[in-house]
Amino acid sequence: MCYIMLGNWYRHIPNYLVNILIGVNILPTERRSLIMLFGATGDLATRKLYPAMLKLFEKGNIRDHFAVIGTSRYKFDDEKYREMVIKSVSKESTNKKQIADFASHFYFVTHNVTDLEHYSVLKNKANELDKKYELNGNRVFYISMAPNFFGTVAKNLKAQHLLSEGNGFNRLVIEKPFGRDFESAKQLNDDLSNAFEEDQIFRIDHYLGKEMIQNIEAIRFGNTIFEALWNNRYIDNIQVTLAEKLGVEERAGYYDNSGALRDMVQNHIMQIVSLLAMEQPVAFKDTDIRAEKVKALRSLRVYNVAEASSNFVRGQYAAVGNDKEYREEDGVPKDSNTETFVAGKLLFDNYRWSGTPFYIRTGKKLADKFTRVDVVFKKPLVDIFAFPQSGSAPLSANVLTIFIEPNQGFSLMVNAKNSEQGFHTEPVQLQYLEDSKRTRETPQPYERLIHDVLKGDGTNFASWPEVASAWKFVDQIRRVWDIQQPMFPNYIPGSMGPVSADELLARDHREWVYKLNK
Ligand code: BG6
Repeated sequence: MCYIMLGNWYRHIPNYLVNILIGVNILPTERRSLIMLFGATGDLATRKLYPAMLKLFEKGNIRDHFAVIGTSRYKFDDEKYREMVIKSVSKESTNKKQIADFASHFYFVTHNVTDLEHYSVLKNKANELDKKYELNGNRVFYISMAPNFFGTVAKNLKAQHLLSEGNGFNRLVIEKPFGRDFESAKQLNDDLSNAFEEDQIFRIDHYLGKEMIQNIEAIRFGNTIFEALWNNRYIDNIQVTLAEKLGVEERAGYYDNSGALRDMVQNHIMQIVSLLAMEQPVAFKDTDIRAEKVKALRSLRVYNVAEASSNFVRGQYAAVGNDKEYREEDGVPKDSNTETFVAGKLLFDNYRWSGTPFYIRTGKKLADKFTRVDVVFKKPLVDIFAFPQSGSAPLSANVLTIFIEPNQGFSLMVNAKNSEQGFHTEPVQLQYLEDSKRTRETPQPYERLIHDVLKGDGTNFASWPEVASAWKFVDQIRRVWDIQQPMFPNYIPGSMGPVSADELLARDHREWVYKLNK
């Protein structure tokens, strides 16, 4: 870690010494690569990608041997592009010299993705920069554009020989959404597969770059006390909540065509659930982890019509005070039936989980912005303290809560004797929360994920079989919802969604661990 504190001191020492320091882990390994970014003037690039790249640069993960070719339809030149990059990272650092040095690695090519001639300009630029920065032919193609262009870009990259042909690597990074149902996702995947192998494709799910999502595996497989009990004999149910306080903001055009089921459940929630449900991988490496996630998702019960309509509920936010209802938001049709809230029950038909439901919920305009997982253990079979004369309250369930955001940490609720006269038990919470300094210093998802792409580590990306299983599950819910007329709007902003989300658990004699104090 000392390189983080020491900043850029290594820039003044000779190369042979740098190599020795890398060897003994004093310096991070520099990843050589060209990054060709499609959608370089877009929102994601300026808000997330450039700041993440600057962090990698500050830490020496990219240093002298990297270059970025930004493309979009804009008529930028290198200078204008660099100004944009500098502006987008200016909040991240006060070191102007370092930012200027970083930005000098960025080049711009105006590009229309359907115009084949433009690819030869890109190719020449890529070859030129490869030589200039000694990139060994390593190439990352990062597509951050509307999904209908993914296939076209991939096909043309291959056909126009932009993929490096020597020993260098070729990697394709794709942002979501990956299709809007199984069929369209398969079509897209087929298009990509004509140009790239599965192990060259990195499908971004930014939740997989979050510190505490990655921590799920550490908590499960690093602790006997959890992994030994991680099954249907000891766990009563698992709850996953991804709550947002904001509404659709400026994204109505995209969101109204997507809805919470496609926007959050098919990707982020299914990924979290698969990490919670999977078996222990043979080794902690991408191929083994992916294999277990796929196995878990394949045993997820795909619902028939009756099951889908009783195990999933949806909501759309109403108006409150000055806040508009969803149907009044700019860009949303007045009769929109798009759901801004989903809650559901997932069942795995396998030996580990049969009979233990996973409840999930997500929505916009809820009480707060947070993500958490609550693992609710079964209560002891016999409550020996529950004599009528003891006055002790019945034992509570042990609950392991994994706080993903904004707090990072976990807590475990256990029953203990309280210190009063007599013998009374009460639930107490053992809690570990990272302090705000550490949380602030935690690398952001895009920094981790870009670094993983440069390393060639696919652990925290969604593989095609995972994406396919998730769509097959979600499509069934969608199919049922598309033919039923919802009663919208049905929840108040600032709540935790419609009443039906509570009823979903009440029906099973359960309740959400996180609930608002009424
Ligand atoms: C995105 C969704 O994938 O995740 C957005 O498209 C949502 O609608 C966002 O707001 C939430 O991400 P985070 O990291 O803020 O929880």
